[in-house]
Amino acid sequence: MADPRLDSLQQAAPGLRLKTEAADLEHYGRDWTRRWTPAPLAIALPGDIEEVRAVVRWARANGVAIVPSGGRTGLSGGAVAANGELVLSLERMNRVLGFDPIDRTLTVQPGIALQSVHEAAREHGLVYPVDFAARGSCSIGGNIATNAGGIRVIRYGNTREWVAGLKLVTGTGELLDLNRGLIKNSSGYDLRHLTIASEGTLGIVVEATLKLTDPPPPTNVMLLALPSFEVLMQVFAALRERLQLEAFEFFTDRALHHVLAHGAQAPFAEVHPYYVVTEFAIGDEAQEAKVLTAFEHCMEQGWVNDGVISQSEAQAAQLWRLREGITESLARYKPYKNDVSVRISAMPAFLEETQALIGREYPHFDVVWFGHIGDGNLHINVLKPDDLGDEAFVAQCEHVTKLLAEALGKHDGSISAEHGIGLVKKPYLASTRSAEEIALMRGVKRVFDPDGIMNPGKLFDA
Ligand code: MLT
Ligand code: ZN
Repeated sequence: MADPRLDSLQQAAPGLRLKTEAADLEHYGRDWTRRWTPAPLAIALPGDIEEVRAVVRWARANGVAIVPSGGRTGLSGGAVAANGELVLSLERMNRVLGFDPIDRTLTVQPGIALQSVHEAAREHGLVYPVDFAARGSCSIGGNIATNAGGIRVIRYGNTREWVAGLKLVTGTGELLDLNRGLIKNSSGYDLRHLTIASEGTLGIVVEATLKLTDPPPPTNVMLLALPSFEVLMQVFAALRERLQLEAFEFFTDRALHHVLAHGAQAPFAEVHPYYVVTEFAIGDEAQEAKVLTAFEHCMEQGWVNDGVISQSEAQAAQLWRLREGITESLARYKPYKNDVSVRISAMPAFLEETQALIGREYPHFDVVWFGHIGDGNLHINVLKPDDLGDEAFVAQCEHVTKLLAEALGKHDGSISAEHGIGLVKKPYLASTRSAEEIALMRGVKRVFDPDGIMNPGKLFDA
């Protein structure tokens, strides 16, 4: 039976759509982490900003916690509702509101999928350059809430760089119109940037004005096979020096093994321990010659065993599939995901230490390494053996995350590069943020959300 509190919610927002079926509670109460059992009070699906505000005001008056919800493709438990929270899904607020050709901005509602933003930008001859594999299902509101990164950060930066303005409903139901699309605005604290990566703990993003840019030059995709981890950063430096890189991603033979088992095509006759997929501009003959020089240089140095360059869009997509298909190919193993970063200059030392640590601590587990190495961002996925229970597996992984967090602390790195802290990385926040910073973050939250109703328990405990 539906909770009697929902009657007063419906009175507060008469047109509000609510879902309370068991299947809906399960569907909307979890994200891609699959670690927590969903148990929300109900799902509210507002159709406009005023309904969002009405829901927040009701939640505040009734002491009900809210979990803002987009595409729920998150990997840190930021959108999990496991404690009777009201899930506030923005999926009905999914439209493009406007395009401004002079400002070159696109204004959208938060529930729009990243891919639809790409398509809308393209209709106007421009691009929104943030991109990653979950583009079809993730929402722009979720991208903003986690400052999502992806495969083109090396060239275009994170989501933060592309938000010209946003509207936020705070934990008191106030509506803030932040930065209003301005390029220059030196008028004090930038609350827009405070909101980005706040994981729904300060309020709900209800509208965003996104910057667009010119389409990239024509590009090619190249897949390289590498003999060892040690040469990875050297290959990166050699290519970056000679080419205009649009992406530089790496993965291991274990990652390739799983992607191939999932239906992708083997790129080389032989197996190699490491692979790089890179995309770069190929405007003219001079640039094409540089690609060859860069490749030959890497071969001569013994940094590269083999390579293939895409000859068509279809082949480029095939090569990208080897990298972008990894997450999906691992899903059935309930991977424990690490998403860590250090400065690029610290990467060689950090890699050496981390490889030794992982080899020592996980001798019997299938550990899959991949990620955005050109941004200093590694994804280390530990796959759950079928004969090990969920809890025992997570407990073992947490032990190693603690050690990893210590290594990150030493190298001035981050426990979350692009997935967010959510529930999964909350115990390790202090390895990346000082006690003083966390205390200030708590203070900021209290100002935006005095009753602690906005996504409580995520990021840190209030
Ligand atoms: C990726 O780089 O593929 C995404 O961050 C997803 C993941 O880490 O699984
Ligand atoms: Zn990633």
